[in-house]
Amino acid sequence: MPELVQYTVQDDVAIVTINNPPVNALSPGVPEGIDTCVTRAAADPAAKAVVLIGAGNTFIAGADIKVFGTIPNREVSIDRSHRVHALLRRIEDCPKPVVCAIHGTALGGGLEFAMACHYRVAVPGAKVGQPEVLLGIIPGAGGTQRLPRLCGVATSVELCTQGQHIGAKRALAEGIVDRIVDGDLLAGAIAFARAKAAAGETRKVREQDAKISDHAAAAAALDAARASLEKTARGAHAPYAAVQAIAAGVLHGFDAGSAREIDLFADCVLSAESRNLIRLFFAEREAAKVPGVPKDTPTAEIRAAAVVGAGTMGGGIAMNYANAGIPVLLKESDRAALDRGLATIRRNYDISASKGKMTPEQVNRVMSLIRPTLTYDGFDQADIVVEAVFENLDLKKSVFADLGRVTRPDCVLASNTSTLDIDQFAQSSGRPANVIGHHFFSPANVMKLMEIVRGRETGSQTIATSLKLAKKLNKVGVVVGNCFGFVANRMLAYYMREGYLLLEEGASVPQIDHVLTGFGMPVGPFGMQDIAGIDVGARIRQYLRSIGKSRLEGPESPVPDWLYEMGRYGQKTGAGWYRYEAGSRTPIPDPLIEELADKAAHERGIARQPVSDDEILSRIMVALANEGANVLDEHIAIRPGDIDVIYAYGFGYPRHRGGPMAYADSLGLPHVLAKVNEYRARLGDHWQPAPLLDRLAAAGKGFYDAAGVA
Ligand code: 3HC
Ligand code: NAI
Repeated sequence: MPELVQYTVQDDVAIVTINNPPVNALSPGVPEGIDTCVTRAAADPAAKAVVLIGAGNTFIAGADIKVFGTIPNREVSIDRSHRVHALLRRIEDCPKPVVCAIHGTALGGGLEFAMACHYRVAVPGAKVGQPEVLLGIIPGAGGTQRLPRLCGVATSVELCTQGQHIGAKRALAEGIVDRIVDGDLLAGAIAFARAKAAAGETRKVREQDAKISDHAAAAAALDAARASLEKTARGAHAPYAAVQAIAAGVLHGFDAGSAREIDLFADCVLSAESRNLIRLFFAEREAAKVPGVPKDTPTAEIRAAAVVGAGTMGGGIAMNYANAGIPVLLKESDRAALDRGLATIRRNYDISASKGKMTPEQVNRVMSLIRPTLTYDGFDQADIVVEAVFENLDLKKSVFADLGRVTRPDCVLASNTSTLDIDQFAQSSGRPANVIGHHFFSPANVMKLMEIVRGRETGSQTIATSLKLAKKLNKVGVVVGNCFGFVANRMLAYYMREGYLLLEEGASVPQIDHVLTGFGMPVGPFGMQDIAGIDVGARIRQYLRSIGKSRLEGPESPVPDWLYEMGRYGQKTGAGWYRYEAGSRTPIPDPLIEELADKAAHERGIARQPVSDDEILSRIMVALANEGANVLDEHIAIRPGDIDVIYAYGFGYPRHRGGPMAYADSLGLPHVLAKVNEYRARLGDHWQPAPLLDRLAAAGKGFYDAAGVA
């Protein structure tokens, strides 16, 4: 096995190369190796300076995330942090210039090692960031102390609380990077290091106070950060801890700040928030691994795409392809619908441009990649076609029959259906192995989830190609089985039903929404439905009734259908569960809903009475987890983590709570089961414990440890 950290000398400069694939994480041995090599360089007469660089595709992408789970208590965390802080000081105290050469990403501990070097150079495509909060922790190796000294308080607070990566250009402008190297990075870094050695220059970031010396400005930036977190943190604690650590260092000096960082890091790394976020990080990567679809399954290269239907979803899906640089034909059945679809796409891009998210040139480029058409001409060039026509089985059958005729035999045939059985139209194409569901969420150009629906005959190559494609489209792909509503919407039906029933029992729409947003959801169930459209669900129910089916067993509230009949579809009609003033999206509670709830309660023969917030949260979350257990038992979802990833990306479920299945585990499955049984006794037999919930509770296991993930 090659050494994790290698030492060589080139042109009078010691080169310290980290070689820990795939992302050069700071696994045990890597920090120590860097330490040893820098110490060796300091004493090496053949070296006038040092360059720290990563082998492979990237610099250091951070601490080894797997290691956090092995920290048993605060003492161990604090001890480890002290050691890494001391190690970084030793690098910083090197008497010879130490230059960090960045390509790929320098994230978390990676950026912290880079900042302990005297200078940083980067290739134009490099990215840097402190994404620790996304894992429920804070930078723990001096990041909250050195970053403000390089780029000031406002930027460091932004980076440490939001966790986003920034490109080399901005990093240079902010003072995080000292030079961009065009061409060969190592050669550029060596030249830079030699120049610094010749000038006798080194620079310790921990001693640079110029950017934080204005305490009044720093205090204002910190206050602004806390105020903004009140709106955005949605119950997460780590972002506040990051602000506290930065504040300590800015106001009381590097040493006091470092001590505070070490302390806060220990709290965070042992928190449920961090455990949940780390589990979700790995769940997201695990979702790309599908049993029966080996890693080496051949995949098709998607170079050209086509979308059928330019409505709400088709337009957004076409934008996804164009954004990824893939030319896409957009087919409609008539000119007016095509023009409307294109105008919506153009408007969406223009909005992005007006917000400075895209340049006019970028808008022109993506628009030129979307080619409108009313015929199938050119479909024989497509590597994939995504069907997004009306939700009608006969129509889909006829479109798939067309696609079987007009596309190449190897073309992937995807459907965006949200409720229909893909097996029923896969055959129409004559190539069911190529047929798969690509279920995007509205707005398709924004929402990151893509449920990849595996039909009875879907081939593994089609699945592997879809997973690879999801990543290219900047989506999170999760493979799910074929059933009504797949994973996301099947479970959502139970979530929504509980909301409706709680309303009939006496809770109010604003109360229920408030409980769920207090839990961390971006929007409550009723607010969400006003955005998505009450008509969408109502039409699905109508269709199901017409074929003698229903979405779920047991009571269904009539209130949403009454709203539909009244033309109250939600925000788009100015009224739904709430009222909206013209041009506004601010929900205004509407007494009419209380009247409808009274009427429904009367019809059900129940008296409305106050419902506690605890009851609301428990009923909704237990309903979700119980149906999640059925989804797992029926193998519609492969793992509990897949469900949690789906809920995080499909509905904005608060990540720090891990997802509906992780949340149930945190409550304890015996408790969840007891609640299901209590609701059954109190509310009726439509509450049935999922067999898997029963089994796991009896075995004293959680969903995750049953799946082999603690
Ligand atoms: N530790 C351990 N494993 C890691 C890792 C890390 N920091 N980062 C990535 N990996 C693993 C992934 O699990 C994956 O493993 P797999 O192939 O077995 O599934 C593999 O590396 C490749 O990762 P991706 O599939 O995510 O590859 P991408 O090329 O899409 O993305 C990346 C690369 C942008 C580096 C992305 O992996 C990422 O964001 N990683 C996490 C970065 C991060 O959060 N760093 C901070 C860590 S906390 C820290 O540093 C604390 C410090 O302050 C003390
Ligand atoms: P939509 O009604 O906005 O658009 C459908 C479009 O298909 C219309 O513009 C119509 O003219 C066009 N069309 C009909 N027949 C056609 C044909 N033969 N050839 C070309 N174009 C044709 O519908 P929407 O909402 O975009 O839904 C499309 C699909 O996406 C449906 O299967 C729906 O279930 C699914 N879906 C919808 C979501 C939503 O929130 N709207 C979310 C996820 C999936």
